[in-house]
Amino acid sequence: MTYRTQVGIIGAGPAGLLLSHLLHLQGIESIVLETRSRGDIESTIRAGVLEQGTVEILTEAGVGDRMKREGFVHRGIHLRFNGRTHRIDFDELTGRAITVYAQHEVIKDLVQARLKAGATIFFGVEGVSVHGVETARPSIRFTHDGGERVVECDFVAGCDGFHGVCRAAIPSPVRKDYAHVYPFGWFGILVEAPPSSDELIYALHERGFALVSTRSPTLQRMYLQCDPKDEVKNWSDDRIWTELRARLATRDGWEPVEGRIVQKNIVAMRSFVAEPMRLGRLFLAGDAAHIVPPTGAKGLNLAVTDVRILVSALVDFFRTGREELLDEYSGKSLRRVWRAEHFSWWMTSMLHRFPDADDFQHRLQISQLDYVTSSRAAAQTLAENYVGLPLS
Ligand code: APR
Ligand code: PHB
Repeated sequence: MTYRTQVGIIGAGPAGLLLSHLLHLQGIESIVLETRSRGDIESTIRAGVLEQGTVEILTEAGVGDRMKREGFVHRGIHLRFNGRTHRIDFDELTGRAITVYAQHEVIKDLVQARLKAGATIFFGVEGVSVHGVETARPSIRFTHDGGERVVECDFVAGCDGFHGVCRAAIPSPVRKDYAHVYPFGWFGILVEAPPSSDELIYALHERGFALVSTRSPTLQRMYLQCDPKDEVKNWSDDRIWTELRARLATRDGWEPVEGRIVQKNIVAMRSFVAEPMRLGRLFLAGDAAHIVPPTGAKGLNLAVTDVRILVSALVDFFRTGREELLDEYSGKSLRRVWRAEHFSWWMTSMLHRFPDADDFQHRLQISQLDYVTSSRAAAQTLAENYVGLPLS
């Protein structure tokens, strides 16, 4: 069976779904293809920090009601080292805030809005391939329900994440990849307990990094630095709490509120950028083109920014036939991507124990944290990057 649409979107993550929704609001049709099931994409636990700009775009797009009700607005974060806690006051330093609201909740809100508007989303597709992206009539082939399907379109949006097929459709030497892998991962848990803190706590300790985040009044998210090759089965609940208590300890006896651990997973830490983010009529957006380590909480927000830039360019093309904004897409997005890459790498480097680091390097990290928490200029640099720089 052959379908015809204006934009064929591969991947129903935040990038693909938001793109489809924003295009629809501008009267542009799309079809979304997703390898996983709806249940799967709506329940996979990912990050949860939304920049104010992300909150604004979701709200303007009419998918922000539940986020407004259930998300938590945080006006700062805590940095903890040497047993002391220091607040970075986003509100005072930038006038902006972040919202903690899980990525899979954003996905649920977007899927619901798309289906309510009668969108075509194929879940559980297989064998996706992209064709003719350097012509004016690209197409996507895939199988669904055992049948061969073709989507003919004007543009293909590669929103299929880091392990998707779209990036490879921009071959070397046109495409250049920049990659950096960190010698540690994050062990993440979900805990049934009340919040341990009213704002996120990022901690550096001689035993490694730890992070206290939240999901709801009764469910908390916490992470600790681990060996990237470690396995969940090596971490008993006891071992996790012992480690979290040690790394998060303060001189005045602070301890995380413990509870039943209902989920454990290990997150790899890497930085990655593919350039350019476009070949002909194929445009990459989100994790398909770039990955950041989670320390700066930028992954989802970068996907949203790519989509905002791409939507303006596609709308301008369909209204006027002009291609200038399409031509600018990759350069504009990459400028923001590299800023976020630097910020995420910097936060990661400041807050983790590197296996080969000596005491000298640890002292440098402490000095950097001391500077960030005592100089207004340094705190402001962290704050403006964390809450998100304006789209320019
Ligand atoms: N065909 C169709 N869909 C695919 C294919 C394929 N060949 N390969 C992957 N997918 C789907 C995945 O199953 C996933 O649902 O594409 C989707 C990509 O979504 P994400 O990985 O969430 O990427 P993105 O939308 O760019 O969002 C970036 O997600 O990984 C987090 O931390 C990251 O917050 C960031 C955000
Ligand atoms: C999360 O809540 O999952 C989270 C918060 C902050 C980060 C990364 C992840 O930097």
